Amino acid sequence: MAERLFEGQDHARVYQKYRFPPQEALQKAVFSYLDRKGGAFGLALDVGCGSGQGTLLLAPRFRKVVGTDVSPAQVKEAQQAPHPDNVSYQACPAEELPFADGSVDLLTSFTAAHWFDIPRFMREAERVLAPSGCLVLTTNTLDMRLHFRDCDQELTQIFQEFRDRLNPYISDKVRLVASDYKEIFEAVPFQDKERVTDIVDKVPMTVAELVGYVQSFSMFQLYLKAHPEEARSQVQRLQDRLLKAMGTTSLETKLEFWNRQVCILASRRPIPDS
Ligand SMILES: C[S@@+](CC[C@H](N)C(=O)[O-])C[C@H]1O[C@@H](n2cnc3c(N)ncnc32)[C@H](O)[C@@H]1O
Repeated sequence: MAERLFEGQDHARVYQKYRFPPQEALQKAVFSYLDRKGGAFGLALDVGCGSGQGTLLLAPRFRKVVGTDVSPAQVKEAQQAPHPDNVSYQACPAEELPFADGSVDLLTSFTAAHWFDIPRFMREAERVLAPSGCLVLTTNTLDMRLHFRDCDQELTQIFQEFRDRLNPYISDKVRLVASDYKEIFEAVPFQDKERVTDIVDKVPMTVAELVGYVQSFSMFQLYLKAHPEEARSQVQRLQDRLLKAMGTTSLETKLEFWNRQVCILASRRPIPDS
């Protein structure tokens, strides 16, 4: 069974405000693969699109892009955000995609596939992808570091201590992330597939943005639901400790958030016999 999180309107609003799209290194891995595979650029589906930050990246390359998500609240946020005419959004589960057999040229999912019912999702991917279609599944991993002048270690430690507080709220599904999507990779039903596990993006963000971003984590939202006051005070403590270690009082001070990402790249086209 797929697990239902991210459904609340407040969570969706935090998503829209603080989630950032796939950055340079991840984009390069994805788009250079698509260029290499040379499939068609008609219809792209971004499944588990959340508030649509990753979906928008596909718009310049595909005639039509549809972001889908099981959460109507996330879809509503995506629809309300500015988007080009060739992008639309639809609420539906990843395991029942309302698209015709063989009609999709690219199926992506950014930091969402671990929430799906994987066997059912893979059957849908196999059904909707065109004969030369590609499947791209990426995720942020739990390897996260903070960088600022000479206090990287201290900041990363403060951040880690905050994340340790969230451990009781980590879903079982996050095991798939902890193993770098190994099980998901094995379930991809195509012969032509690869898994890249060392993509690191360095995302510049202010302390305010970082503190907003951590509140989009599913485990933080569960913590907030279980212990609202404690969760809010831990966020405040994270913010105060980061500012102190950085020697600033301004929430607009920029630091860098480094995150390792994993990317599964697959093509439906059979590998030619050599
Ligand atoms: C961590 S968020 C990622 C959102 C977005 N792709 C991003 O990179 O910011 C996971 C998303 O997957 C969606 N989701 C979870 N289970 C799903 C399912 N079975 N079918 C479709 N979407 C699902 C959630 O509603 C949520 O919006």
